[in-house]
Amino acid sequence: MTTQPLPIIIDCDPGVDDSIGILLALGSPELEVRAVTTVNGNVPVATGTSNALRILELAGRSDIGVYRGCDRALLNKPLAGKFHGPNGLAGLQLPEPETNASTQHAVDRMAQELRRAGEQGTRLTICTLGPMTNLALLLRLHPELAAHVDRVVSMGGAFRIPGNRALTAEFNILADPHAAQVVYSAGLQTVLIPLDATHQAMTTPQRVAAMSGPGRVGQAVGQMLAHWDRNDVQRYGARGGPLHDPLVIAFLVAPALFETSPAHVFVEHGNSLCQGQTVADWYNQSGEPADAQIVTRIDADGIFALFAKRLQRLDPAT
Ligand code: BDR
Ligand code: CA
Repeated sequence: MTTQPLPIIIDCDPGVDDSIGILLALGSPELEVRAVTTVNGNVPVATGTSNALRILELAGRSDIGVYRGCDRALLNKPLAGKFHGPNGLAGLQLPEPETNASTQHAVDRMAQELRRAGEQGTRLTICTLGPMTNLALLLRLHPELAAHVDRVVSMGGAFRIPGNRALTAEFNILADPHAAQVVYSAGLQTVLIPLDATHQAMTTPQRVAAMSGPGRVGQAVGQMLAHWDRNDVQRYGARGGPLHDPLVIAFLVAPALFETSPAHVFVEHGNSLCQGQTVADWYNQSGEPADAQIVTRIDADGIFALFAKRLQRLDPAT
């Protein structure tokens, strides 16, 4: 019996690790990417949209539509991502895209894809690799479409370790904490891959070498990861940098490599020192449903071995 690939939408702000996440999804036959939607985050949404097109073309998959989304958070001012360089790809120069983004807005496309999934009797998995502005708007505009969402699987948050863009806040959540609170209070089934997990996924030199094959994709990934090293063994316990967003794809493809704990998630969205902090109700003290699975531990070696194999599939001739 053949299993149907899991239909997903990738909502992202490419971004080095977003771009590698997109490539891994394209190299994974278990997944069917129905759309790539973009949002303001690591880079302005126009830059992120152009990067998404370039990455799809690099992988020979410009048949997948790119839909430009919100150019700012619901309330907060833009917060540029560190470590991605001015072009969002750590200086990697890819050719100008030959294809254009659709004129349809990301939120409208998400709605259309969810309606179509509903008509087909299926549900979509929404992967968020950036701030959750688009998804929050979708839920406010079309609450009835939540029924066609299977799960929201996101890179975001920090629970038992410090934040990376503020003392207690991770970038994607801090960039739009109001949107994140809308999503986590919507009653959807969610999976969070927070810094607690991604800091276990360090791009050590050996892992980078394994992901940097001789083909076009392997070379591009190698160039981007060359700039990802935080060079801070004291903080991270290893050379390299935490490879955040690709873990979302790995979770969908190989969930056995991840340990999760159930909880309800709240987001501090007040204008406070802790704005953007994610707070887990591990012991059901709030009475809210434990509708989130929070990744606590990962098998990093298994995940990086998977990454190397999936990237090789995109460079078949090498
Ligand atoms: C997240 O922030 C961005 O810089 C990365 O792309 C990732 O999504 C990590 O905090
Ligand atoms: Ca991202």
